[in-house]
Amino acid sequence: MDQKICLITGATDGIGRVTALELGKLGWTLILVARNAQKGERVARELRAACRNEEIFFKQADLALQRDVRRVARDVAEVWPRLDVLINNAGAIFWKRQETAEGVERTLALNHLNYFLLTNLLLDRLKAAPKARIVNVASIAHIGERIDFDDLGCVKGYKRFKGGWTAYQRSKLANIMFTAALARRLEGTSVTANSLHPGFVRSRFGKDNGGLFALILGIGMRFGAISVEKGAETPIYLASSPAVEGVTGKYFADCKQKTPSAAARDEAAQERLWAVSETLTAGSR
Ligand SMILES: NC(=O)c1ccc[n+]([C@@H]2O[C@H](COP(=O)([O-])OP(=O)(O)OC[C@H]3O[C@@H](n4cnc5c(N)ncnc54)[C@H](OP(=O)(O)O)[C@@H]3O)[C@@H](O)[C@H]2O)c1
Repeated sequence: MDQKICLITGATDGIGRVTALELGKLGWTLILVARNAQKGERVARELRAACRNEEIFFKQADLALQRDVRRVARDVAEVWPRLDVLINNAGAIFWKRQETAEGVERTLALNHLNYFLLTNLLLDRLKAAPKARIVNVASIAHIGERIDFDDLGCVKGYKRFKGGWTAYQRSKLANIMFTAALARRLEGTSVTANSLHPGFVRSRFGKDNGGLFALILGIGMRFGAISVEKGAETPIYLASSPAVEGVTGKYFADCKQKTPSAAARDEAAQERLWAVSETLTAGSR
C-alpha cells in the first residue's frame, strides 16, 4: 500500500510543517492537527498546492486538552479505517507555570499526556494497517533530568531563572520512556514506535513566551540552530525510510540510532510512568 495515511500533530509550523510537506510530496494522505483553525486551514491549502496532493486535511484541536485529543481521535477513526503513520510532534515550553482548564500542568498535558492519549486512542487504527509506525518527537533536552513522580505537575520544578526548562526536560524524557514502554506492548504486532531528537532547530519554538527567554532563545536560534528542513530529516526518515522497517523502541538523532540517558532507559520508571499516565488520562473519558 503506497498511499499511506499519516496523522501529524503540530503540522502548521516548524518541524511538523516541513515533515508534512515532504510526506505530502510522496502522495500520502495527511491529517494535520494543530490548535489554530484559521492557520491550519491555510497551511493545509498551501500544502495541497505545493505537493499537488488533494488528500491533505486539517483537524483543529488544542492537544493540551484531553477532551480535544479524544474528539480528534474519534473524528479521525470515523473517517479513516486505518492509519499507517502517527507522528506525535506538537510540543512547547511554557516559561511560566500554567494549568489547563482540565487542571493539568500545561507542559505535561501537551508534551506527554497528549502523545500518550492520542496514540492509545488510535492504536486500533494503527493495528489495522499492514505495517504502521509511531514517531514521537522528543529532545536531547531530556539529558540530566529524571521524572519526579512526587511532583508530576512540576510545582517545585518551576524555579526562578530556570522557568519551565525542567518541566520541558521531563516532558521530553517522558516521550522517550513512553516510546520504549509502548514498543514493548506492541511486540508481536505490525506497529513500531520510535522517538527522536530533531536537532536545535530554528522554528517558532519558545517564541510564544515573549520576554527575555524568547529573546535569548531567538538569538541562540539565529546563530546556533539548524534549518527546519534539516530538523525534519529524522522524523521523515523514521516515518518513511525502508531502512527502519521493523525497528522499534529506539531513539534517533541525525537519522541514526542513539542511546538516550540512563534515566530514559530505566524500565521500572517507564512502567511507572505508563501507569500514572493511564490514571491521569482516565478521568477525561
Ligand atoms: N525547535 C527545536 O530546537 C527543538 C529541539 C528539540 C525538540 N523539539 C521538539 O520538536 C517538536 C516541534 O517543535 P517546533 O520546533 O517545530 O515548534 P514550533 O515551530 O513552535 O511548532 C509547534 C507546532 O505545534 C503546534 N502546537 C503548539 N501547541 C499546540 C497545542 N496546544 N495543540 C495543538 N497544536 C499545538 C503549533 O501550532 P500553532 O501553529 O497553532 O502554533 C505548531 O504547529 C516539539 O515537540 C519540540 O519539543 C524542537
